[in-house]
Amino acid sequence: MNHEKKIVLTKDGSYTLRIDALKESYHSLHGALTESEFIYLNHGLHFWQENNQGKRCRILEIGYGTGLISYLSYLEAQKSQTGMDYTAIEPYPLTSEESELLNYDNLFEISKNQLSHKDFSKLLWEKSLAILPEFNLLKKKILFEHFKSTILFDLIFFDAFGAHVQPDLWGTEWMRKSFNLLRSGGVWVSFCAKGSVRRSLQEVGFEVERLEGPPGKREMLRAIKP
Ligand SMILES: C[S@@+](CC[C@H](N)C(=O)[O-])C[C@H]1O[C@@H](n2cnc3c(N)ncnc32)[C@H](O)[C@@H]1O
Repeated sequence: MNHEKKIVLTKDGSYTLRIDALKESYHSLHGALTESEFIYLNHGLHFWQENNQGKRCRILEIGYGTGLISYLSYLEAQKSQTGMDYTAIEPYPLTSEESELLNYDNLFEISKNQLSHKDFSKLLWEKSLAILPEFNLLKKKILFEHFKSTILFDLIFFDAFGAHVQPDLWGTEWMRKSFNLLRSGGVWVSFCAKGSVRRSLQEVGFEVERLEGPPGKREMLRAIKP
């Protein structure tokens, strides 16, 4: 997937990357930051926190991409003092030049003891890093299909490219893998609202909710492992 990427300004003033060859962007053109916060922070992490107060959260992000969601989670860990063990997987990491084009550091006011997005993006891959007492990060260069784990997760952010780019990854086999990677009570959340994905999630045992989507998107999916 070594495609040419171009930088695009989205409607909320944050940038994303677009791959014309795949007709796909890393985030919604209606707002990269708004979409990431809405789906993964509000309907993912905050939802989990409400039901698991004071507990440490093990998160798996499928599709690290620009690192925006990982970085938002890092800031949130510090702000809410929620412990997080965050594993992000990505088979095709961006180059530092591509990452810097996004200029995400313009979006955040951070204090001296916080990492900028630029520094966060330079953290080593394949190494478990306790970057805060509340936040442990492990970035792995691997396809979800090949990923193995000895631990179970509380939360999965399923943020690979859409089904029109990679239909196989949204099939029942990989929804079952998601199910098996979660603890009981664990939450799977995604921008995707496709009926076939919802049915696959139900088929493998999830309780699935259709939620109102972020700006520009009617619906999104959240699934809970009973
Ligand atoms: C929608 S973008 C991710 C956006 C990202 N979460 C962010 O905050 O920037 C999708 C990402 O999934 C990655 N991806 C593609 N196929 C994958 C696979 N089989 N397993 C894991 N990640 C994959 C892509 O390389 C891309 O970086």
